[in-house]
Amino acid sequence: MKYRTLGKTGLEVSVIGVGAWQFGGEWGKDFTQAEVDQILGRAKDLGINLIDTAECYGDHLSESLIGKALQKNRKDWIIATKFGHKYNGYLERTHQWSPKEILKQLEDSLKALRTDTIDLYQFHTGDDNVFGQEELWAFLKEQAKAGKIRHLGNSVGNDYLHQTKLSEKFGVEVMQVIYNRLETKPETEVFPICKEQRLGVLARMPLASGFLSGKYKPGTVFGNDQRSRFDQKRNFERLKMVEEIKKTEVPEGVNMAQWALAWCLKNSQVTAVIPGCKNLEQLESNAQAAELI
Ligand SMILES: NC(=O)c1ccc[n+]([C@@H]2O[C@H](COP(=O)([O-])OP(=O)(O)OC[C@H]3O[C@@H](n4cnc5c(N)ncnc54)[C@H](OP(=O)(O)O)[C@@H]3O)[C@@H](O)[C@H]2O)c1
Repeated sequence: MKYRTLGKTGLEVSVIGVGAWQFGGEWGKDFTQAEVDQILGRAKDLGINLIDTAECYGDHLSESLIGKALQKNRKDWIIATKFGHKYNGYLERTHQWSPKEILKQLEDSLKALRTDTIDLYQFHTGDDNVFGQEELWAFLKEQAKAGKIRHLGNSVGNDYLHQTKLSEKFGVEVMQVIYNRLETKPETEVFPICKEQRLGVLARMPLASGFLSGKYKPGTVFGNDQRSRFDQKRNFERLKMVEEIKKTEVPEGVNMAQWALAWCLKNSQVTAVIPGCKNLEQLESNAQAAELI
């Protein structure tokens, strides 16, 4: 495994992390505790120390599976979770941004994760008006002072330039952005700000929701997971692009998923990728991508 410093947090994170939305059960598979124990046990053996989850991946379900799996070696892990959304049934969320509501989310996350402190607490994809509330950040700083949070991050949606610029002002030290071979937008405006403000960068959806694994053909219908809600026409176009990339950019004999993760990490502004993982084989393959950089 290789490690990079997560911006000004100073945390040394493995360049390959684990994205844990999958453990919440919205990717066509429910996970048992034994499966998560096995995946995260193997991740540790492979040198992975970074995991990204959220309050709404199931009703604190992903956090709870992670908390049980990591309780014996909590100190070996950097746990990132999020606030602002509430799970309201399969793929349904309500938003909760008041300090009172976030305090409840935070307490529930700490309990589910079986920890006294969250290493990275991220604003979970909210609009600029919510993000700009001074009292929200003052409240979060109080929680950090009380030791419940170590660092603050922002996991942004598609329109995020304004929020990125305000990171320093609000004490945000890490940006989580959509970045992969099909989505390169952060390179032009956001990465330069991250560099200037010394922000860590987590590339989420580094496999473009699995498309960049190269295993799906144009026309694939995703029946039973969150990808069934994607626009079919856009899926087709993106999978055509993946076919072309596979032919023209991925060297012969190289696993495309590994290539796609390494592609993100070749940009020195990216601290780590957090590919979502559904089984041991994917975890092991993703960890090996570190050898390609
Ligand atoms: N708003 C937010 O804050 C937000 C939103 C989205 C994601 N995230 C975070 O980012 C993480 C990553 O994003 P993501 O999970 O949406 O997308 P992703 O990492 O691009 O894709 C994950 C999917 O790719 C497939 N896959 C993974 N490793 C593979 C391998 N080695 N070979 C072949 N297929 C492989 C798996 O699905 P199949 O095997 O079924 O194809 C897996 O579910 C999430 O888990 C979550 O922690 C945050």
